[in-house]
Amino acid sequence: MELAEIEALVSKIKQDIECCECLKDLVDVKNEQLGKKSTFFSVALEGLNQMIRTAPIEEKKKLGALINKFKTDVLDCYNKKEIVLKEKLELEKLKEEEIDISLPGNDYSAGSKNPLFVIRDEIIKFFTSLGYDVYAGPEVENDHYNFELLNTPKDHPARDMQDSFYIDERTLLRTHTSPVQARTMLKNPNTPIKMIAPGKTYRRDDDDLTHSHQFMQIECLVVDEGINLAHLKSTLEKFMHHIFGMKRTIKFVPSYFPFTEPSFEVNVSCANCHGKGCNMCKGTGYIEVLGAGMVHPNVLRMCGYDDTRFSGFAFGVGVERLAMLRYGIDDIRRFYQNDVRFLKQFKEEFRK
Ligand code: DAH
Repeated sequence: MELAEIEALVSKIKQDIECCECLKDLVDVKNEQLGKKSTFFSVALEGLNQMIRTAPIEEKKKLGALINKFKTDVLDCYNKKEIVLKEKLELEKLKEEEIDISLPGNDYSAGSKNPLFVIRDEIIKFFTSLGYDVYAGPEVENDHYNFELLNTPKDHPARDMQDSFYIDERTLLRTHTSPVQARTMLKNPNTPIKMIAPGKTYRRDDDDLTHSHQFMQIECLVVDEGINLAHLKSTLEKFMHHIFGMKRTIKFVPSYFPFTEPSFEVNVSCANCHGKGCNMCKGTGYIEVLGAGMVHPNVLRMCGYDDTRFSGFAFGVGVERLAMLRYGIDDIRRFYQNDVRFLKQFKEEFRK
Protein backbone atom coordinates (compact mmCIF):
# COMPACT_ATOMS: atom_id res chain seq x y z
CA MET A 1 0.00 0.00 0.00
CA GLU A 2 1.26 3.40 -0.93
CA LEU A 3 1.57 6.19 1.60
CA ALA A 4 -0.70 8.36 -0.49
CA GLU A 5 -3.42 5.72 -0.31
CA ILE A 6 -3.10 5.56 3.44
CA GLU A 7 -3.35 9.32 3.69
CA ALA A 8 -6.46 9.23 1.52
CA LEU A 9 -7.95 6.58 3.76
CA VAL A 10 -7.25 8.64 6.88
CA SER A 11 -8.82 11.73 5.40
CA LYS A 12 -11.84 9.66 4.27
CA ILE A 13 -12.32 8.38 7.85
CA LYS A 14 -12.00 11.93 9.18
CA GLN A 15 -14.54 13.07 6.65
CA ASP A 16 -16.92 10.25 7.65
CA ILE A 17 -16.56 11.33 11.27
CA GLU A 18 -17.23 14.94 10.37
CA CYS A 19 -20.36 13.98 8.46
CA CYS A 20 -21.96 12.23 11.47
CA GLU A 21 -25.13 13.97 12.51
CA CYS A 22 -25.75 12.11 15.74
CA LEU A 23 -23.95 9.99 18.31
CA LYS A 24 -25.34 6.80 16.81
CA ASP A 25 -23.76 7.60 13.42
CA LEU A 26 -20.50 8.29 15.20
CA VAL A 27 -20.59 4.96 17.01
CA ASP A 28 -21.30 3.25 13.68
CA VAL A 29 -18.24 4.91 12.11
CA LYS A 30 -16.20 3.84 15.13
CA ASN A 31 -17.33 0.23 14.84
CA GLU A 32 -16.82 0.06 11.13
CA GLN A 33 -13.68 2.10 10.66
CA LEU A 34 -11.78 2.13 13.90
CA GLY A 35 -12.27 -1.43 15.18
CA LYS A 36 -9.40 -3.92 15.10
CA LYS A 37 -10.83 -5.58 12.00
CA SER A 38 -11.67 -2.31 10.26
CA THR A 39 -10.13 -1.02 7.10
CA PHE A 40 -8.19 1.60 8.99
CA PHE A 41 -6.47 -0.87 11.27
CA SER A 42 -6.25 -3.94 9.16
CA VAL A 43 -5.38 -2.24 5.94
CA ALA A 44 -3.80 1.12 6.56
CA LEU A 45 -2.03 0.70 9.88
CA GLU A 46 -1.10 -2.90 9.26
CA GLY A 47 0.29 -1.80 5.85
CA LEU A 48 2.36 0.84 7.58
CA ASN A 49 3.55 -1.62 10.19
CA GLN A 50 4.68 -3.92 7.47
CA MET A 51 6.47 -1.08 5.74
CA ILE A 52 8.28 -0.38 9.01
CA ARG A 53 9.38 -3.99 9.32
CA THR A 54 11.04 -3.98 5.92
CA ALA A 55 12.19 -0.34 5.86
CA PRO A 56 15.76 0.72 6.53
CA ILE A 57 16.46 1.93 10.06
CA GLU A 58 16.37 5.66 9.30
CA GLU A 59 12.97 5.24 7.60
CA LYS A 60 11.51 3.23 10.54
CA LYS A 61 11.52 6.23 12.82
CA LYS A 62 9.70 8.38 10.31
CA LEU A 63 7.11 5.70 9.59
CA GLY A 64 6.55 5.07 13.32
CA ALA A 65 5.90 8.76 13.85
CA LEU A 66 3.55 8.71 10.88
CA ILE A 67 1.53 5.84 12.36
CA ASN A 68 1.19 7.75 15.60
CA LYS A 69 0.22 10.91 13.75
CA PHE A 70 -2.52 9.09 11.83
CA LYS A 71 -3.82 7.45 14.98
CA THR A 72 -3.92 10.67 17.02
CA ASP A 73 -5.38 12.62 14.11
CA VAL A 74 -8.25 10.20 13.75
CA LEU A 75 -8.80 9.91 17.53
CA ASP A 76 -8.68 13.71 17.99
CA CYS A 77 -11.17 14.14 15.22
CA TYR A 78 -13.38 11.48 16.81
CA ASN A 79 -13.20 12.97 20.33
CA LYS A 80 -13.92 16.48 19.12
CA LYS A 81 -16.89 15.29 17.13
CA GLU A 82 -18.16 13.30 20.09
CA ILE A 83 -18.10 16.45 22.27
CA VAL A 84 -19.92 18.46 19.61
CA LEU A 85 -22.60 15.79 19.13
CA LYS A 86 -23.12 15.34 22.89
CA GLU A 87 -23.64 19.08 23.27
CA LYS A 88 -26.05 19.00 20.35
CA LEU A 89 -28.00 16.19 22.01
CA GLU A 90 -28.07 18.08 25.31
CA LEU A 91 -29.42 21.19 23.60
CA GLU A 92 -32.08 19.18 21.82
CA LYS A 93 -33.17 17.65 25.12
CA LEU A 94 -33.31 21.05 26.79
CA LYS A 95 -35.39 22.36 23.97
CA GLU A 96 -37.80 19.44 24.27
CA GLU A 97 -38.18 20.00 28.01
CA GLU A 98 -38.51 23.75 27.74
CA ILE A 99 -41.29 25.18 29.91
CA ASP A 100 -43.20 28.19 28.78
CA ILE A 101 -43.38 30.18 31.98
CA SER A 102 -45.67 32.71 30.38
CA LEU A 103 -48.49 30.14 30.23
CA PRO A 104 -51.17 30.51 32.92
CA GLY A 105 -50.62 28.00 35.77
CA ASN A 106 -53.06 25.47 37.16
CA ASP A 107 -55.46 26.85 39.73
CA TYR A 108 -54.39 25.20 42.96
CA SER A 109 -55.70 28.04 45.12
CA ALA A 110 -56.08 27.52 48.86
CA GLY A 111 -59.49 26.65 50.24
CA SER A 112 -61.34 28.79 52.69
CA LYS A 113 -61.90 28.39 56.40
CA ASN A 114 -65.16 28.75 58.27
CA PRO A 115 -65.10 32.26 59.82
CA LEU A 116 -65.73 30.64 63.18
CA PHE A 117 -62.38 28.89 62.96
CA VAL A 118 -60.74 32.01 61.58
CA ILE A 119 -61.68 33.86 64.77
CA ARG A 120 -61.00 30.91 67.07
CA ASP A 121 -57.51 30.40 65.63
CA GLU A 122 -56.78 34.10 65.73
CA ILE A 123 -57.70 34.20 69.43
CA ILE A 124 -55.56 31.14 70.13
CA LYS A 125 -52.65 32.80 68.35
CA PHE A 126 -53.16 36.03 70.25
CA PHE A 127 -53.19 34.38 73.68
CA THR A 128 -50.47 31.81 73.05
CA SER A 129 -48.21 34.65 71.94
CA LEU A 130 -48.86 36.20 75.36
CA GLY A 131 -47.73 32.98 77.06
CA TYR A 132 -51.11 31.33 77.65
CA ASP A 133 -51.54 27.56 77.37
CA VAL A 134 -54.47 26.04 75.47
CA TYR A 135 -56.55 23.45 77.33
CA ALA A 136 -59.50 21.28 76.44
CA GLY A 137 -62.27 19.72 78.49
CA PRO A 138 -65.08 17.22 77.93
CA GLU A 139 -68.27 18.33 76.22
CA VAL A 140 -70.26 15.76 78.20
CA GLU A 141 -69.70 17.22 81.63
CA ASN A 142 -70.44 16.46 85.23
CA ASP A 143 -72.77 18.79 87.11
CA HIS A 144 -70.02 19.08 89.72
CA TYR A 145 -67.63 20.82 87.31
CA ASN A 146 -70.23 22.64 85.23
CA PHE A 147 -71.98 24.22 88.23
CA GLU A 148 -71.00 23.15 91.76
CA LEU A 149 -67.28 24.02 91.61
CA LEU A 150 -68.22 27.27 89.93
CA ASN A 151 -70.11 28.37 93.02
CA THR A 152 -73.50 27.52 91.53
CA PRO A 153 -75.10 24.96 93.87
CA LYS A 154 -78.21 22.91 93.00
CA ASP A 155 -80.82 25.47 94.02
CA HIS A 156 -78.97 28.51 92.68
CA PRO A 157 -81.22 30.69 90.51
CA ALA A 158 -78.35 31.38 88.10
CA ARG A 159 -78.71 27.79 86.86
CA ASP A 160 -81.89 28.89 85.11
CA MET A 161 -79.86 31.14 82.79
CA GLN A 162 -78.05 28.07 81.46
CA ASP A 163 -80.61 25.34 81.00
CA SER A 164 -78.99 22.42 79.25
CA PHE A 165 -79.34 18.93 77.82
CA TYR A 166 -79.16 16.45 80.69
CA ILE A 167 -78.02 12.92 80.06
CA ASP A 168 -78.83 11.83 83.61
CA GLU A 169 -79.25 13.70 86.88
CA ARG A 170 -75.58 14.51 87.19
CA THR A 171 -74.41 14.51 83.58
CA LEU A 172 -75.12 17.19 80.99
CA LEU A 173 -73.75 18.75 77.84
CA ARG A 174 -71.61 21.56 79.24
CA THR A 175 -73.36 24.92 79.19
CA HIS A 176 -70.11 26.88 79.04
CA THR A 177 -66.35 26.33 78.88
CA SER A 178 -65.97 27.51 82.50
CA PRO A 179 -65.75 23.93 83.89
CA VAL A 180 -62.32 23.74 82.23
CA GLN A 181 -61.28 26.38 84.79
CA ALA A 182 -62.22 24.06 87.65
CA ARG A 183 -60.60 21.02 86.03
CA THR A 184 -57.35 22.89 85.45
CA MET A 185 -57.16 24.32 88.95
CA LEU A 186 -57.88 20.97 90.61
CA LYS A 187 -55.05 19.36 88.62
CA ASN A 188 -52.51 21.98 89.75
CA PRO A 189 -53.45 23.24 93.25
CA ASN A 190 -51.77 26.48 94.34
CA THR A 191 -49.90 26.82 91.04
CA PRO A 192 -50.03 29.88 88.78
CA ILE A 193 -52.21 29.33 85.70
CA LYS A 194 -52.48 31.22 82.42
CA MET A 195 -54.80 29.38 80.11
CA ILE A 196 -57.50 29.53 77.49
CA ALA A 197 -59.92 26.74 76.60
CA PRO A 198 -61.80 26.84 73.29
CA GLY A 199 -64.62 24.42 72.62
CA LYS A 200 -68.25 23.63 71.91
CA THR A 201 -70.94 24.40 74.46
CA TYR A 202 -74.66 23.63 74.56
CA ARG A 203 -77.80 25.29 75.87
CA ARG A 204 -81.44 24.50 75.54
CA ASP A 205 -82.12 27.84 73.87
CA ASP A 206 -84.70 28.36 71.21
CA ASP A 207 -82.74 28.72 67.99
CA ASP A 208 -83.10 32.13 66.36
CA LEU A 209 -80.90 34.61 64.46
CA THR A 210 -78.48 35.02 67.36
CA HIS A 211 -78.95 31.82 69.38
CA SER A 212 -78.09 28.24 68.65
CA HIS A 213 -78.41 25.18 70.91
CA GLN A 214 -74.75 24.51 70.15
CA PHE A 215 -72.14 27.25 70.01
CA MET A 216 -68.48 27.89 70.64
CA GLN A 217 -66.85 29.62 73.57
CA ILE A 218 -63.33 30.44 74.61
CA GLU A 219 -62.63 30.48 78.33
CA CYS A 220 -59.73 32.38 79.83
CA LEU A 221 -58.28 31.97 83.31
CA VAL A 222 -55.29 33.59 84.98
CA VAL A 223 -54.45 32.73 88.59
CA ASP A 224 -51.38 33.91 90.44
CA GLU A 225 -50.35 35.94 93.45
CA GLY A 226 -51.34 39.59 93.10
CA ILE A 227 -53.67 39.35 90.09
CA ASN A 228 -56.09 42.27 90.12
CA LEU A 229 -58.79 43.96 88.07
CA ALA A 230 -56.25 46.12 86.21
CA HIS A 231 -54.71 42.96 84.72
CA LEU A 232 -58.12 41.82 83.54
CA LYS A 233 -59.04 45.21 82.13
CA SER A 234 -55.83 45.67 80.15
CA THR A 235 -55.97 42.09 78.86
CA LEU A 236 -59.54 42.54 77.65
CA GLU A 237 -58.81 45.90 76.07
CA LYS A 238 -55.87 44.49 74.11
CA PHE A 239 -57.90 41.43 73.15
CA MET A 240 -60.90 43.43 71.94
CA HIS A 241 -58.77 45.90 70.01
CA HIS A 242 -56.98 42.99 68.40
CA ILE A 243 -60.27 41.50 67.22
CA PHE A 244 -62.20 44.66 66.35
CA GLY A 245 -59.47 47.22 65.65
CA MET A 246 -58.42 50.33 67.55
CA LYS A 247 -61.36 52.46 66.43
CA ARG A 248 -63.90 50.61 68.59
CA THR A 249 -64.34 51.76 72.19
CA ILE A 250 -64.76 49.29 75.01
CA LYS A 251 -67.04 49.60 78.00
CA PHE A 252 -67.14 47.54 81.20
CA VAL A 253 -70.64 47.13 82.59
CA PRO A 254 -71.28 45.64 86.07
CA SER A 255 -72.96 42.24 85.90
CA TYR A 256 -73.41 39.05 87.85
CA PHE A 257 -71.89 35.58 87.55
CA PRO A 258 -71.80 33.21 90.54
CA PHE A 259 -68.18 32.30 89.87
CA THR A 260 -66.73 35.83 89.78
CA GLU A 261 -66.78 38.77 92.15
CA PRO A 262 -66.88 41.50 90.98
CA SER A 263 -68.36 40.51 87.61
CA PHE A 264 -68.96 42.50 84.50
CA GLU A 265 -69.77 42.35 80.85
CA VAL A 266 -67.66 43.83 78.12
CA ASN A 267 -69.43 45.96 75.55
CA VAL A 268 -67.90 47.08 72.27
CA SER A 269 -69.05 50.18 70.41
CA CYS A 270 -71.38 49.34 67.54
CA ALA A 271 -69.60 49.05 64.18
CA ASN A 272 -72.65 50.49 62.47
CA CYS A 273 -73.23 53.71 64.44
CA HIS A 274 -69.96 54.04 66.45
CA GLY A 275 -71.76 54.47 69.77
CA LYS A 276 -74.56 56.81 68.69
CA GLY A 277 -77.32 54.22 68.77
CA CYS A 278 -78.97 52.42 65.84
CA ASN A 279 -81.17 49.42 65.05
CA MET A 280 -78.26 47.01 65.16
CA CYS A 281 -77.35 47.87 68.76
CA LYS A 282 -80.97 48.43 69.77
CA GLY A 283 -80.29 52.12 70.29
CA THR A 284 -77.62 51.60 72.98
CA GLY A 285 -74.56 52.31 70.82
CA TYR A 286 -72.85 49.25 72.29
CA ILE A 287 -73.00 45.48 71.89
CA GLU A 288 -72.27 43.00 74.68
CA VAL A 289 -69.53 40.55 73.73
CA LEU A 290 -68.37 38.68 76.82
CA GLY A 291 -68.66 38.00 80.53
CA ALA A 292 -65.73 38.46 82.88
CA GLY A 293 -64.70 38.99 86.47
CA MET A 294 -62.31 38.25 89.33
CA VAL A 295 -62.42 34.58 90.26
CA HIS A 296 -64.69 34.16 93.30
CA PRO A 297 -62.75 33.14 96.45
CA ASN A 298 -65.19 30.23 96.92
CA VAL A 299 -64.17 28.88 93.49
CA LEU A 300 -60.47 29.23 94.32
CA ARG A 301 -60.96 27.39 97.64
CA MET A 302 -63.13 24.62 96.17
CA CYS A 303 -60.54 24.07 93.43
CA GLY A 304 -57.63 23.66 95.85
CA TYR A 305 -56.21 27.17 96.03
CA ASP A 306 -55.30 29.25 99.06
CA ASP A 307 -57.48 32.31 98.42
CA THR A 308 -55.49 34.42 100.85
CA ARG A 309 -52.44 34.04 98.62
CA PHE A 310 -53.91 33.60 95.16
CA SER A 311 -56.32 35.65 93.11
CA GLY A 312 -57.36 35.41 89.50
CA PHE A 313 -59.36 36.75 86.63
CA ALA A 314 -61.50 34.91 84.12
CA PHE A 315 -63.69 35.53 81.15
CA GLY A 316 -65.73 33.59 78.65
CA VAL A 317 -66.42 34.74 75.14
CA GLY A 318 -68.84 33.47 72.50
CA VAL A 319 -66.92 32.92 69.26
CA GLU A 320 -69.95 33.10 66.94
CA ARG A 321 -70.82 36.45 68.48
CA LEU A 322 -67.36 37.87 67.79
CA ALA A 323 -67.44 36.57 64.21
CA MET A 324 -70.93 37.97 63.62
CA LEU A 325 -69.94 41.37 64.93
CA ARG A 326 -66.68 41.53 63.06
CA TYR A 327 -67.95 40.37 59.69
CA GLY A 328 -71.53 41.63 59.93
CA ILE A 329 -73.00 38.10 59.72
CA ASP A 330 -76.75 38.28 60.21
CA ASP A 331 -77.66 34.72 61.18
CA ILE A 332 -75.77 32.39 63.54
CA ARG A 333 -76.99 29.35 61.61
CA ARG A 334 -74.79 30.27 58.63
CA PHE A 335 -71.75 29.00 60.53
CA TYR A 336 -73.06 25.45 60.51
CA GLN A 337 -74.74 25.19 57.11
CA ASN A 338 -71.57 24.82 55.03
CA ASP A 339 -72.90 26.91 52.19
CA VAL A 340 -69.82 27.40 50.01
CA ARG A 341 -71.09 30.75 48.78
CA PHE A 342 -70.92 31.93 52.39
CA LEU A 343 -67.65 30.21 53.29
CA LYS A 344 -65.79 31.39 50.18
CA GLN A 345 -66.22 34.98 51.27
CA PHE A 346 -63.70 34.45 54.05
CA LYS A 347 -60.87 33.20 51.88
CA GLU A 348 -58.85 36.36 52.27
CA GLU A 349 -59.45 36.50 56.03
CA PHE A 350 -57.93 33.07 56.35
CA ARG A 351 -54.77 34.10 54.46
CA LYS A 352 -54.09 37.11 56.69
N1 DAH B 1 -69.51 31.18 81.55
C1 DAH B 1 -70.19 32.41 81.31
C2 DAH B 1 -71.34 32.17 80.33
O1 DAH B 1 -71.26 31.26 79.57
C3 DAH B 1 -69.27 33.44 80.75
C4 DAH B 1 -68.26 33.86 81.76
C5 DAH B 1 -68.50 34.93 82.55
C6 DAH B 1 -67.08 33.15 81.89
C7 DAH B 1 -67.57 35.33 83.51
C8 DAH B 1 -66.15 33.53 82.83
C9 DAH B 1 -66.41 34.64 83.62
O2 DAH B 1 -64.99 32.90 82.99
O3 DAH B 1 -65.48 35.01 84.52
O4 DAH B 1 -72.25 32.94 80.31
